[in-house]
Amino acid sequence: MAAKRAQWGSKLGFILAAAGSAVGLGNVWKFPYVTGQNGGGAFVLLYLLAIVLVGLPIMMGEILIGRMAQKSTVSAFRSLAPKSAWPLVGWLGVIAGMIILSYYSVVAGWSLHYIYLSLSGAIGGADPEAVKELFGGLYVDTTANLGWHAVFMVVTAVIVIGGVQQGVERAATFLMPALFLMMTAMLVYAMTLPGFGEAVDFIFGVRFDQVTGATVLEALGQSFFTLSLGMGAMLTYGSYLSKQDDLVTSALSISALDTAVALMASLVLFPITFSYGIDPADGPGLVFQNMPAAFAQLPGGALWSTAFFLLLSFAALTSSISLLEVVAAYFIDERGWTRRQAVIVLGAFIFVLGVPSALSGGSQAFGAGFKDLTAPVFAIVGKEGMNWFDTFDYIASNMLLPLGGLGIALFSAWRMGERARRAEIAAGSTLGKIEALYLAWLQLLRYLVPLAIVTVMLYALGIFKLLGLI
Ligand code: PHE
Repeated sequence: MAAKRAQWGSKLGFILAAAGSAVGLGNVWKFPYVTGQNGGGAFVLLYLLAIVLVGLPIMMGEILIGRMAQKSTVSAFRSLAPKSAWPLVGWLGVIAGMIILSYYSVVAGWSLHYIYLSLSGAIGGADPEAVKELFGGLYVDTTANLGWHAVFMVVTAVIVIGGVQQGVERAATFLMPALFLMMTAMLVYAMTLPGFGEAVDFIFGVRFDQVTGATVLEALGQSFFTLSLGMGAMLTYGSYLSKQDDLVTSALSISALDTAVALMASLVLFPITFSYGIDPADGPGLVFQNMPAAFAQLPGGALWSTAFFLLLSFAALTSSISLLEVVAAYFIDERGWTRRQAVIVLGAFIFVLGVPSALSGGSQAFGAGFKDLTAPVFAIVGKEGMNWFDTFDYIASNMLLPLGGLGIALFSAWRMGERARRAEIAAGSTLGKIEALYLAWLQLLRYLVPLAIVTVMLYALGIFKLLGLI
């Protein structure tokens, strides 16, 4: 008999850990700037639709597979569909986990660097233009990038070594409430700013003339990344869930929390953006350039800045924990490694895999050189060449996650037996026993979800552009 499998201490612990995985850089860094670039309200509406119609059904399917098998990704597919190609979906997840974590840790490292800058007095009260330049300096600073990347990976690894209850769940139980508290404080402050009204109108005022095909697809892609779907994070976390716990309300809570944080982050960022005359369509620099520049002019700016980057780092940490857990769980479940062994070896490997990303700003080979190298490949899909970092992000977000999500949707809606699926959804759940809801979920997962994913992928591959459709 194998040792008893780890389980969450409580359903709340599971929800916090899974919401921790979902809430991350995708919510605080990416969502606001993508919203800004896509004209605001209309994008937000489409994003909400994508969460409800595509994200939520997949999340239920993913947790369901994990809880049914009580195993992590590859093993789960192997035990539910022996002697088939389905474990490939699990494999895809493990690989996606390594790739995403390798560059995610670099961005999280920037956030750590900004905590340090805030505390050292380089932001509060400083010249806003000079503060804006700080990011350019950090971006090309090889030592700082490698150093913070290493620090962040070590912190992640130490928590994951602690195990499911003592590590992952305990960290989330502290980090998530702290994140909500800081976010709420910042939101209350943002409400007092002159730009708040304008921000609310920007985020919730739906102007349909701004909706294009690209907006729809961007919203769908974002809903995937932000909910941590398609790579087995929810599957693995679901495998530590007891059969008595309600899978349906858990998935609802996780999605609701994730959406709430994304909207709150926007309601914090945009009032500051508008109050200080920054263009909301400014792009990825919103968090690392414009926000610090705004903090520089704020009374008590050093404090707000520290709190904000602490919040961003906490959000990133609970996500990186889930990424490493998926990868480690594979080696623990399938190869019989001890948790400590798996985490140290894989943590080190992922750190090395992330070195080129950490050097993408400061080195010719992984930066401009790599861009030239990949230019012919990306030209096929109508894009410019990308450095190592952007290439990894592109492959993971636009290929691996959608493919994994497709696999999970098809497996849970078509491959799994009707009786087993019904019983698993209904176990411990009142909503799961309602026939109409069950059928609605199944139909979405069977038809709409695969169609939506295939569309996103064709878009990411530039097929629509090629055909002159958009
Ligand atoms: N959901 C995380 C975020 O929004 C990213 C993530 C993707 C984490 C996939 C785990 C798995 O930042």
